[in-house]
Amino acid sequence: MSSLLIIDDDIAICRTLQLHYTSLSHQVITAHSVNDGLLAAASNEIDLIILDNQMPIKSGLESLPDFREVVPNIPIIMITAYHDMETTIAAMQNGADDYIHKPVDINELDQAVERTLIRSNEENTKLSIPEEDSNKVQKNNNRMAGHSTAMREIYKTIGLIANKPINVLITGESGTGKELVAKAIHESSNRSEGPYVAVNCAALVESLLESDLFGHEKGAFTGAINKHPGKFSIAENGTLFLDEVGELSPAIQAKLLRVIQEKEYIPVGGTNVIKSNARIIAATNNDLQEKVKLGLFREDLFYRLQVVNINIPPLRERKEDLMDLIQNLLGRINREMSNSVCRLSMEVINSFNGYRWPGNVRELENVLTKAVALSPTDTITLDLIPEFISEKHVINSDPGIPVQTSLEEMEKIHVARVLNFTNWHKGESCKILGISRPRLRRIIKQHNMVDPCGTENEEVDIEDFMETEPLEHSG
Ligand SMILES: Nc1ncnc2c1ncn2[C@@H]1O[C@H](COP(=O)(O)OP(=O)(O)OP(=O)(O)O)[C@@H](O)[C@H]1O
Ligand SMILES: [Mg+2]
Repeated sequence: MSSLLIIDDDIAICRTLQLHYTSLSHQVITAHSVNDGLLAAASNEIDLIILDNQMPIKSGLESLPDFREVVPNIPIIMITAYHDMETTIAAMQNGADDYIHKPVDINELDQAVERTLIRSNEENTKLSIPEEDSNKVQKNNNRMAGHSTAMREIYKTIGLIANKPINVLITGESGTGKELVAKAIHESSNRSEGPYVAVNCAALVESLLESDLFGHEKGAFTGAINKHPGKFSIAENGTLFLDEVGELSPAIQAKLLRVIQEKEYIPVGGTNVIKSNARIIAATNNDLQEKVKLGLFREDLFYRLQVVNINIPPLRERKEDLMDLIQNLLGRINREMSNSVCRLSMEVINSFNGYRWPGNVRELENVLTKAVALSPTDTITLDLIPEFISEKHVINSDPGIPVQTSLEEMEKIHVARVLNFTNWHKGESCKILGISRPRLRRIIKQHNMVDPCGTENEEVDIEDFMETEPLEHSG
C-alpha cells in the first residue's frame, strides 16, 4: 500500500481517481490547488504525487520547482492536456518523473503509477561524486579508477617505468582501458609537456599508414603534393601510441624495428635519414605471442616492443573495481551532460555485479551514459539498464521456482527459458547453457519442446553432423 497525493482543481476527477486508487488499496489524499498540494505534501508521508497541469493561479508545470524544493525525492506524475514536445520536455526537465496526457487513460496512469512506485521503492545507493575544479577536468577525464590488486599493480608499474626510456606493450581485451594506461604513462613521465600522438594501426591501408607514420617527401606518390611530416616526427620529445600494433604489415614491422633499434627512419620517397626520439607505447587486444608463433608478427619486434608488458585483466575478473569505475564514469558523464545522477538502486548494483561485461569498461560507460540521459531523477533504476543485464540478476538471485522442483524439471524450465531468450537460436543457447548441440537436441526431444514460431533459428555447425555426443565431464 502506498500513499498518493492527487492535485487537480477539477473535483470530479480527483474524486474518480481517489475511488479508483482506494479500491487498489492505496491511501489517497486530494488537493485542489498548488498551494494546498504543497501543504499536503509537506505535512503527510507521501509516496507519489499526481499533479494536474492546468490549475488557476499557478500551473502544475510552473509549480514543479516548488514541489522539488519541498519534497525533493517524492516522484511526480504530471497530467496535462498539452501534447506538444516543448511542454513534455519542460516537465521532465523541471523534475516530473512521468507525463500523462488528457483525457486520462486509466490503464496508462496505472502503469505509470506502478512503474514510478517500483522505481522509488528500490533501495538506492548514493555514490559520492566530488565537485571538480574545471581546470582539473581534462586531467580527470584521463584519471584511472579501480583499486583491485591488478589495478594497483598497474599503477605501481606506471610509476616505475614512466620516466624510463623503455617501450611498453599494453595488452587486454577491447575496452579494458589500454589507451587510458598509455595516456597515464605519458602524463606521469618527464615527457608530459611534449606531444602525445596516437595512431590506430588497423585504421589505414598499408601505404597510407606508412606515410602517416613516417611522413613523405613531395611527389613521393600520386597525390603527394607537399612534403608531409609523419607521426614519428610530430611525436618528437613526446609519446607515440601505436594502437592495434598486431595489425601492422610485415613491411611496416621492418621499418618500425629500425626506428626502435637505430632511432632513425627514412620518410616515404625520401633519402635523408631522420632521427627520432619518440617514446613508443604499443597496444593490442589480440595474442601477439600467438601471432609470432604463426609467423604473422616479427619475433624481434615483439621483444623490442614489450620490454615491459602491462596486461589489463577484463572487468569480469576485477568486479571489486565496479563501484570505483561507476563513480568515476558518472562524474565524467554528468559533467558532459550537465547532469547530477549520483545514485544507483541496489537492484542495479546487483545486476552489474552479476553481469560478465564482455565489452569491459567501455560497455559500462555506454550503459551508464544511456541511463543518465534517460533518468528523470538522480537515480539509475533497473528500468534504465538493458534487459540482458538485469536478466542475469534475476537468474542469480531467486529464480522463483519452488525448492521442491526436481533437477529434470529445472532443466526443462531453464532450457525453455534460454531458448525463448535466444529466439530458438540453438548455437547461442548452447553457448549460454554450456552444453553441446546433441545434448540440447536430446533435451528438446525428451521434453517435447516446440518452437512457438516454428522457425527454429539455427545455423549449420560441424557438430550437427556428429552422430554421438562428445564426452562431457561429469563430477
Ligand atoms: N580504469 C579506468 N578508469 C576510468 N575509466 C576507464 C578505465 N578503463 C577504461 N576506462 C574508460 O573506458 C573507455 C574505454 O577505454 P580505452 O579506450 O582506454 O580502452 P581500450 O582498451 O583502448 O579499448 P580498445 O581495445 O577497444 O581500443 C574509455 O572511455 C576510458 O576512459
Ligand atoms: Mg583503444
